[in-house]
Amino acid sequence: MGRHRRRSPLHLAHGTNVKTEATAPGKIILFGEHAVVYGQPAIAAPVSQIRATATVVTTEAEGVRLIAPDLGLAYWLEGAARDDPLALAVRLLQEAAGIDTLPPLTITVRSEIPIASGLGSGAAIAAALLRALARHLDRPALATDERVSALSYEIEKVHHGTPSGVDNTVVSYERPVYFRRRKPENLIETFQVTAPIHLLIADTGIRSATRDVVGDVRRQWQKRPREFEEIFAACGRIAREARAALEEGEQRRLGQLMYENQAWLRQMTVSSTPLDRLVEAARTAGALGAKLSGAGRGGNVIVLVGESDTVAMRDALLSAGAIHVLSTTVAPEPSPET
Ligand code: PMV
Repeated sequence: MGRHRRRSPLHLAHGTNVKTEATAPGKIILFGEHAVVYGQPAIAAPVSQIRATATVVTTEAEGVRLIAPDLGLAYWLEGAARDDPLALAVRLLQEAAGIDTLPPLTITVRSEIPIASGLGSGAAIAAALLRALARHLDRPALATDERVSALSYEIEKVHHGTPSGVDNTVVSYERPVYFRRRKPENLIETFQVTAPIHLLIADTGIRSATRDVVGDVRRQWQKRPREFEEIFAACGRIAREARAALEEGEQRRLGQLMYENQAWLRQMTVSSTPLDRLVEAARTAGALGAKLSGAGRGGNVIVLVGESDTVAMRDALLSAGAIHVLSTTVAPEPSPET
């Protein structure tokens, strides 16, 4: 670190117009949202076809320009609020790299991941930005999954208040993860899915702030600790069983566990009429399982289907009020030699 501090900022830039790009995927929580904040395990998977992209370019101008064209935002790092998530990502990376003065840069972030809908857009933007900037500044040790995840976690705190760490983990590692918040270190395990899991992701079109929903669950837990702890423990048991079902390719069991998890999420009051309507439409149309994914009160429902069932299921979800339906597959990982 000390060695890096003395390097001239110009030495860090590779010359003007050199461009570094990195991306990160969206994510879904398969099991265990909310309970994971209280130390229960959760399972999350990346959604690789929707991504956030960050591009870093060295310029001739002075200062660091932050641009988010999708949001119509362009501003200087210097004038950004302390809790601005993009500025925070840049400052955290700068500090971790031990660089006193950044070279002049333009950093642009774009995202195909809907905001505030439980698909991890904030975490993905942070992870893409951190990775692109670490590479651009020639700090590969800061671009590893582990470091990107740890730094993204700091930014998640701004979005979420008390994040469990599952979002930043799954988008940084881009692998299905079994995650448990734990001291001194979180448990992060990747595991093998034996058979491909076909899921539809149906969007209610209702945005909801994770921070508010997590805060509301916390208030209810404080008022009725025994009841909520039982709910969280039940969700934890479901996540553990679901991992076994994923490892053993037991799709029917997995689907049942999704419905069970949804029932507990309703007890937590994080489901809503539009979410319940989508879950019931999926059940009626023969889904193996369905539940909300993420913080709830809005956002998405995930639906487990057989490979050939997606067209009819998509129609059923659209008829029940989904504004759009994505499909994704959680597939077995290729073996290292392929
Ligand atoms: O970002 P979302 O909406 O997917 O919610 C994250 C999941 C929660 O368990 C509700 C919160 C957390 O920090 O794990």
